[in-house]
Amino acid sequence: MRFENKVIFVTGGASGIGRATAERVVDEGGRAALVDLDLDRARAAAAQIGNAIGLAANVADEGQVKAAVDATVAELGGIDLALAGAGHAEFGPTAEWDSERFMRMLSVHVGGTFYTCKHVLPAMKSRGSGSIVTIASTAAVMANNNNVPYGAAKAGISGLTRQLMFEALPEVRINCIAPGRTITGMTTPLMLARGGDMEKGEEIFGAAIPMKRMGTADELAAAICFFLSDDASFITGQTLVVDGGETIS
Ligand SMILES: NC(=O)c1ccc[n+]([C@@H]2O[C@H](COP(=O)([O-])OP(=O)(O)OC[C@H]3O[C@@H](n4cnc5c(N)ncnc54)[C@H](O)[C@@H]3O)[C@@H](O)[C@H]2O)c1
Repeated sequence: MRFENKVIFVTGGASGIGRATAERVVDEGGRAALVDLDLDRARAAAAQIGNAIGLAANVADEGQVKAAVDATVAELGGIDLALAGAGHAEFGPTAEWDSERFMRMLSVHVGGTFYTCKHVLPAMKSRGSGSIVTIASTAAVMANNNNVPYGAAKAGISGLTRQLMFEALPEVRINCIAPGRTITGMTTPLMLARGGDMEKGEEIFGAAIPMKRMGTADELAAAICFFLSDDASFITGQTLVVDGGETIS
């Protein structure tokens, strides 16, 4: 029960890693605000998890992020923990990216993480403590073909986390998780496209990983909850790669 009476603010909370993290926090005694693009999806996920509320916000829009933070404070009484997890994957040769598409990638990932941190920090500081986790990717630390905008955005999130450490202290720790290939709503269409069905898709994606399988959202949530909890009380500003060994192979 590491999160008894704690409130977590989760962007991208209706699906995948964000939702799995909210579930773990609630299982360990906390309450959650699930923030996502679509209000019905966010509310449905909150109803399934229990002790949670669903809110709509596009994290690329600072005003919407602030409104979601304010609504969480009003409805749940404050914010102790946050996961900036909202994101989308898009790949392709650099020549195919016009500035609007490129800026959208940066706005959602780097912008969304920045706005989330900016607005949850005062709420945490006013309570005297807090822990934030951001989400990068193995693309922040290794090269993939046709992955320049996503890789740049994810490296930006890891850098933002490091830079924000000083302003977050002394009350708040901030760390970053860099997931490898993980089975979620984001990768499901990619697996289906590559494999034809999920089983074959998982096999193809897993083959490149030393552990010979993809990660699960719950395995990522376990690492995120370590950073969120007092178990990580002397760790801040770090990026932890959780990838079954891919980046060092
Ligand atoms: N799944 C992987 O293999 C993998 C690998 C590396 C990094 N990541 C990162 O993990 C994070 C979580 O992704 P996931 O794999 O759980 O995918 P997911 O698609 O299951 O969940 C992402 C959620 O973010 C929401 N979202 C997207 N854009 C948003 C926006 N502008 N505003 C608010 N919500 C928005 C989506 O609606 C979705 O519910 C993302 O930042 C992703 O880039 C995932």
